[in-house]
Amino acid sequence: MTLAILILAAGRGTRMHSDLPKVLHPLAGRPLLAHVLATAASLNPAQTVVVAGHGMDRVRAACPEPSLTWVEQSPQRGTGHAVQQAMPSLDAAIDRILVLYGDVPRVPLVTLQQLLKKSEGAALGLLTAEVADPIGYGRILRDTGYQVMGIVEERDASPDQRLIREINTGFLIADRHALAAWLARLQPNNTQGEYYLTDIVALAASADQTIETLCVADSPVLSGVNDRRQLARLERHYQQSLAEEWLLAGVTLLDPARLDIRGELVAGRDVVIDVNVVIEGRVCLGDRVRIGAHCVLQDCEIGADTCVEPFSLIEKSRIGAHARIGPYARIRPESSLGDGVHIGNFVEIKKTIVGEGSKINHLSYIGDARIGQRVNIGAGTITCNYDGAHKHHTEIGDEAFIGSDTQLVAPVRVGEGATIGAGSTITHDAPPGQLTLSRARQTTVTGWRRPVKKTKTTEKTTEGS
Ligand code: UD1
Ligand code: CA
Repeated sequence: MTLAILILAAGRGTRMHSDLPKVLHPLAGRPLLAHVLATAASLNPAQTVVVAGHGMDRVRAACPEPSLTWVEQSPQRGTGHAVQQAMPSLDAAIDRILVLYGDVPRVPLVTLQQLLKKSEGAALGLLTAEVADPIGYGRILRDTGYQVMGIVEERDASPDQRLIREINTGFLIADRHALAAWLARLQPNNTQGEYYLTDIVALAASADQTIETLCVADSPVLSGVNDRRQLARLERHYQQSLAEEWLLAGVTLLDPARLDIRGELVAGRDVVIDVNVVIEGRVCLGDRVRIGAHCVLQDCEIGADTCVEPFSLIEKSRIGAHARIGPYARIRPESSLGDGVHIGNFVEIKKTIVGEGSKINHLSYIGDARIGQRVNIGAGTITCNYDGAHKHHTEIGDEAFIGSDTQLVAPVRVGEGATIGAGSTITHDAPPGQLTLSRARQTTVTGWRRPVKKTKTTEKTTEGS
């Protein structure tokens, strides 16, 4: 049997009230469709066809996998119409078709594998679920012998049919030739005037073709995303399951309900993550790393025993072992901080290499710089790296000491072991091992008095004298 997977992703997603095509709305940081494509790829089909329509260019651009066959459905006249559009693009060898919906992103792979297995040899296989709240779903109609007779959509269902709690998840597997014949007979006889894919079930049943069903228990992973409320619920459910996996893998989460992983996390032993941390992209945390409350970590690598204090943001950077970052630190892309580095509150680091054991503890901006080892940068130091047109480089040698409130006007170098006096504006290279400062001399004006505000009484006194 040669399998094709067909993913329906052309719908407008009216109920999202969004300019973004529905299948591009993110779940855990990735478009809904990307989740479906990942599941599809795990089933190793001979061909994967995506039916797109609404916002097709954007949808295609977001899913650049070269192996996909794209089919345009325009206008979108229903799920049955979508499958009709895809049929001519199927490779000749295909004889079974698994239909997935682009807006049902979290169905487990094993469930689909079970469906494929159970439906072997059947003309049609359906994945159904017994749910507590069937509102919005197509209902499975069965006869007294429990044989499937058809599917009725919520909108077209009678009050009695609406009480049925076995719903259509949307996932089905069909024999290619049988499917082609059913599709040719679809009629838009429903309240929406659409060609419903679900109507093929009644056609199969009336022709006595075998219909297998796999009915699974109620689970949020089966729910389709039609509006933002459903998307938010699915996100919470998914995040909860990710958090539980990490707890079982040995990571301490101070509150598993307050962690968001929107990418890939790699964590060593005895990692501790406090509340409201957001992980984006690929984040690797070494052994015993501690992440304080309210931190955002994007595409970064953090070495063993490093502590990221609360309210810090780290983007596309590497941080060594035994370092201390924050609270309130911002590490911008392309930075690399060595082992034992301390970055304190309200410090912004951009595209900078900081050597082992260096400290930038308070209120500084260090950009486009290379800082040596064991350097101490005082509070309020600023690399003036931008002249309005170009970025310039600052170089600070090992064991230099930069006094507080220094401006380093780049391009500039501070030599090894140099000391810069506090409050300096450094526009020329500072030699190694010496004190350099630029500072107006301090003077004291003797006998100077603060002006005193004139009042009425003092005016009178003045007149009288
Ligand atoms: C559909 C099913 C319903 C099932 C539910 C499960 C139909 C008629 N109904 O309803 O039985 O319980 O899913 O979640 O199939 N799409 C297209 N082209 C179109 C219309 C839709 O590609 O012309 C795509 C959409 O992008 C979406 C999927 O098909 O990914 C489902 O469409 P949607 O309108 O969300 O169907 P539901 O009302 O949820
Ligand atoms: Ca849907």
